[in-house]
Amino acid sequence: MRLDRDSVGQGYFEHAVYNHWDPYEDIPQSDLEADREKMINDEDLTEEEFEEYMLVLALFGAGEEAVAEDLAPLAIALDDIDDQMFITSQLYEEAKHTQFFDRYWREVVLPVADERGFEATYPTNQRFFNEEYIDLFEKNEAAMELLLTDDTPENRAKAYCHYHLVVESVLAQTGYYGLTSLFSPGGNDNVPQRDFPHLEGLTQGVTYIRSDEGRHVGFGMQKIQELIAGEGVDPQVVQDTLQELMPHVANTVSRFTEATDPVPLVEYSRDKLTRRIEIITNADAEIPDVETLVEIDDAPDTATADD
Ligand SMILES: [Fe+2]
Ligand SMILES: [Fe+2]
Repeated sequence: MRLDRDSVGQGYFEHAVYNHWDPYEDIPQSDLEADREKMINDEDLTEEEFEEYMLVLALFGAGEEAVAEDLAPLAIALDDIDDQMFITSQLYEEAKHTQFFDRYWREVVLPVADERGFEATYPTNQRFFNEEYIDLFEKNEAAMELLLTDDTPENRAKAYCHYHLVVESVLAQTGYYGLTSLFSPGGNDNVPQRDFPHLEGLTQGVTYIRSDEGRHVGFGMQKIQELIAGEGVDPQVVQDTLQELMPHVANTVSRFTEATDPVPLVEYSRDKLTRRIEIITNADAEIPDVETLVEIDDAPDTATADD
């Protein structure tokens, strides 16, 4: 047979197909309209808070766009059909995430700015992008592109660390955690500086995206574990790479101070990183199955969540 249905790649691919969602059909226009109305009618909303709301959405939009572009070298480097099939689903999903954030900006952010008399700008405005954030994505791009010219087990492990663990897991998951805490009944009540409206459209989109990301991160973690166990990559390389990139995340998260208390967010991102290192570098740790791995990133922040 061509495909190995017991392989990591095929298992995640099947999971992706089964959990397919549509960024237009599955997030009804009425939910985005409700988000828009709630933001327009939130009398306490200041322009500084709105700037931070734009900031998080702009960083996400740019991040999703960048990861969609930067994944291509890995698709070329991987030679196993099951892994290639999974990466194809991941590329498609990153494109869908980009589409959701673009739609949200058009349907909610711009009309709210217009109604409230706030400065309306585009998510590509350079003011949203701090140097540490830009550097992180440049390093990510370089680590992925290196696979085209120097595809060694160590370089592959580093590429997964940059892309799947730091950008997709630590940075993105911290962002989702912040959004969920501010704009849904879930998350951590200590993160928002005040009560914000519950934005169902945003929360729905984020929930779908988080579930996809859980799968992506799970795949990256499995691959790093395989590289350590089977290809002799030193776990210290993984640990060093993750720790080297952490200041980029902390610096970016620390920018959120108006609507958000950055302290619990930075703590959350550090915990995420520590948990990744523990799972990956523990040689005795059992490799969890697909559902468990998806869950690792999908939900379980009970240790830091209030609800
Ligand atoms: Fe994504
Ligand atoms: Fe992803």
